[in-house]
Amino acid sequence: MIASLLFNHLFIPLLLLSSSTSAADILSCGNKDGGTDADGRKWTSDASFLVSQDKGLELVAQVQDPSLPSTVPYMNARIFKTEASYKFPVNPTSRYFLRLHFYPSPYPNFIVSNSYFSVLAGPLTLLSNFSASISAQALTQSYIMKEYSLAPIHADSLTITFKPSDKYKDTFAFINGIELIPSPEIFTSAELVGFQDQPLDTSSANVETMWRLNVGGQYISPVNDTSGLSRSWYDDTPYISSAALGIAKQADDNVTIQYKNMSASIAPIDVYRTSRQMGLDGNVTSKFNLTWTFSIDAGFTYVLRLHFCEFDLTAINQRVFNIYINNQTATEDADVIAWTGAKNIPIYRDYASFVPAGQIDSKLSLALWPDVNARPEYLDAILNGVEIFKISNSNSSLAGPNPTISDLMQQQLLEEEARKPSSTASRVTKVIIGGAAGGAAVAFAFVATAVFVAKRKRALPPGSQSRSRSSSWLPIYGGFSTASGGGSKSTISGKSHAGTNISSDAVANCRYFSIAEIYQATKHFDESNVIGVGGFGKVYKGTIDGNVKVAIKRSNPSSEQGVNEFQTEIEMLSKLRHRHLVSLIGFCEEDGEMALVYDFMGKGTMREHLYKGNKIILSWKQRLELCIGAARGLHYLHTGAKYTIIHRDVKTTNILLDDKWVAKVSDFGLSKTGPNMNQGHVSTVVKGSFGYLDPEYFRRQQLTEKSDVYSFGVVLFEVICARPALNPSLPKEQVSLGDWALNNVRKGTFEDLVDPHLKGKISPECMKKFVDTAQKCLADHGVDRPSMGDVLWNLEFALQMHENPEGSTKKASSGATGNTEQDHDKNNDEKVMDQSSILAMHRNTLSLNDQDFVEQNENNTDEVFSQIVNPKGR
Ligand SMILES: *[C@@H]1O[C@H](CO)[C@@H](O)[C@H](O)[C@H]1NC(C)=O
Ligand SMILES: *[C@@H]1O[C@H](CO)[C@@H](O)[C@H](O)[C@H]1NC(C)=O
Ligand SMILES: *[C@@H]1O[C@H](CO)[C@@H](O)[C@H](O)[C@H]1NC(C)=O
Repeated sequence: MIASLLFNHLFIPLLLLSSSTSAADILSCGNKDGGTDADGRKWTSDASFLVSQDKGLELVAQVQDPSLPSTVPYMNARIFKTEASYKFPVNPTSRYFLRLHFYPSPYPNFIVSNSYFSVLAGPLTLLSNFSASISAQALTQSYIMKEYSLAPIHADSLTITFKPSDKYKDTFAFINGIELIPSPEIFTSAELVGFQDQPLDTSSANVETMWRLNVGGQYISPVNDTSGLSRSWYDDTPYISSAALGIAKQADDNVTIQYKNMSASIAPIDVYRTSRQMGLDGNVTSKFNLTWTFSIDAGFTYVLRLHFCEFDLTAINQRVFNIYINNQTATEDADVIAWTGAKNIPIYRDYASFVPAGQIDSKLSLALWPDVNARPEYLDAILNGVEIFKISNSNSSLAGPNPTISDLMQQQLLEEEARKPSSTASRVTKVIIGGAAGGAAVAFAFVATAVFVAKRKRALPPGSQSRSRSSSWLPIYGGFSTASGGGSKSTISGKSHAGTNISSDAVANCRYFSIAEIYQATKHFDESNVIGVGGFGKVYKGTIDGNVKVAIKRSNPSSEQGVNEFQTEIEMLSKLRHRHLVSLIGFCEEDGEMALVYDFMGKGTMREHLYKGNKIILSWKQRLELCIGAARGLHYLHTGAKYTIIHRDVKTTNILLDDKWVAKVSDFGLSKTGPNMNQGHVSTVVKGSFGYLDPEYFRRQQLTEKSDVYSFGVVLFEVICARPALNPSLPKEQVSLGDWALNNVRKGTFEDLVDPHLKGKISPECMKKFVDTAQKCLADHGVDRPSMGDVLWNLEFALQMHENPEGSTKKASSGATGNTEQDHDKNNDEKVMDQSSILAMHRNTLSLNDQDFVEQNENNTDEVFSQIVNPKGR
């Protein structure tokens, strides 16, 4: 803290010297008075910069989406029906950051999905036929921010022009916020990947920032970007596409990062204080590439700026690795200490890669791999930050196409728009009521005391203030990195299905099936194809497109719960793509039939491989891997998506396995998003499954992601004990696995509960790690439970202990990497542990806003409750 204050003061004069004298313009468009945003930044009116005849219209958005980070500048807009320009005085020799903020909401008399326009900065095309509405839908965000870095223009004014598209009728342009911030020259040259010693001159490049990630660290807001350039830095985890995430590591507090030959404006200290590394175990790290994947527009050259800072190791040849960009070698033998000469000194490297036009669904991948051939002391790699910039093409354009969207979709956007804002409100109410009705079945006997507890106003537990600001940290220019399976198909076939409550962005992300297709796939819902039955209805196996196996969930049309869970599930799943989440391929709603189409999970549920007449006995390693996969899926739900998503029904029958034994979390029918989503967030009726229910959730109706952690703890015990979470046929004290396991852990007799098939096959260290983790998950109070990220880390650690027991015991074997590494591993075990818990605190995944929670309870949950709660005390 002190160090960072100190640095703050050092930076500011530096920056003033190095940047131009002209001040930044931070404009809230269409807003006469300007205002202050949620971060405390001041925005002023844009009016005095308008030079065109058309001054546009100053309008206020009709709906304030709860996920907006701030009302300023998003709630005010300037709308242009004809071409219009701003003119900004600039320093002719300075580079500038330009940021454009768009909030595609309904504005009085304007249907925002009709808006298509181009934006030019001088002769440079930034956007062309741009639809903010479609772009936001595609990113499942309420707003869009575009950032550019413009080379010096050698003139003393910059004109920014908004042009309604001439391809469409009655269209218009709009803008909510403009930032024009002078910046030091941040580009010189980049190495062209695949063309050795051919640097690409970037000093005159005009670029668009595509991503800016604080690797292994947390979100850094514009006010905390100490360079004064007001950049946002995001968490990198949503972009990791390799099976392993590596380890996020942070510099100790006493470490001082020193900018040597590098300008401090390149990136703030906080970027360099955190890193992602591959891990300690050379046997593991040498076998995979730590990989990040990004979806990009083809036909452009991209600059990847990689930020490094070594704060653990001091000598060269200790950590040496290769860097691959799009499967091509960018650098062999990367050695940060060799580059900087000492530890705690940051450095960056720019690489350029051209992505040829014509590819659909283009990806840019970045991979790190320990350079085994260089025989470094540790087989490891490190990265502290990454920025990806798109360079303008030979037509002086940075514009990419809008995300593809069909005509049918277009129509629905219009209809949706016309229904707003009332449709948003009614959807919320419906979900809450549906939740209540469905909850009745589960909550009935239990919840008598809950209402009264929930009603009382509570003091905020420490650290539980709303962090709603940072909850929408998903990179605003982001996209999901791990699209899988049928999710990428967005063909919409069949008839229109107007009149549903499914939002158009959900529709955009998945395929629409006609009822005829569903009948064909399931042979008219033939009973022989039933593979499961849930609260929602029956699940059928089926075949689409000739040979693609799918699972089809058919709703029970008579069930109110069905209708709502159907909608919830489409809304949730269509936005979520992750290797460890079951992918929704599409849905059907026609003729009173509702069906959801998923990837087929060839190996069924996790539960059926643990007990219940399982044929194959899973080894301990397999079980650990399944737990890790499921933990990763849940971790993603909690932290990786736009909103914190609480699954609410984590259990072994909701963890499914595909043909390759990859565990995937399924069944989002009960899911709730955390803070921010539609106000209705925490108002909730106890739902979930007996045996897995978080006692705190019960007592207080307080739903947090820690409720999932509790349930997952029960899953872990189920996996190691191979018995159901609830077994009513056992003596009373043994009925609930959670209680029984905890009891035995405390008495030191837990080994008696372990699946006999695993006896003698788990090392004591590994067992201890696993059981400790499960036990912590079952802590009485949510605040005492680890985050899903922590659980994941501990399970991975347990797996490493299992696979490489020597690495974690005193006996060092002389493997390929030699004794020293083993010793290093051992010494670091404890240190790393500490760091991971520090990190866990740092990450501080969102806690719920208690205030909202209380209000919500008072407003409607009580009414709902009164219908279902058995009014007897317990
Ligand atoms: C800036 O950083 C400080 C210290 O880490 C933190 O307390 C504060 O919330 C951050 N501000 C924003 C707007 O993120
Ligand atoms: C890189 O290689 C992987 C695995 O071989 C492949 O899946 C991926 O498509 C390749 N990426 C590119 C950009 O060529
Ligand atoms: C890592 O990626 C590179 C480039 O795609 C590939 O050549 C190499 O085989 C990969 N290494 C591993 C261990 O998968």
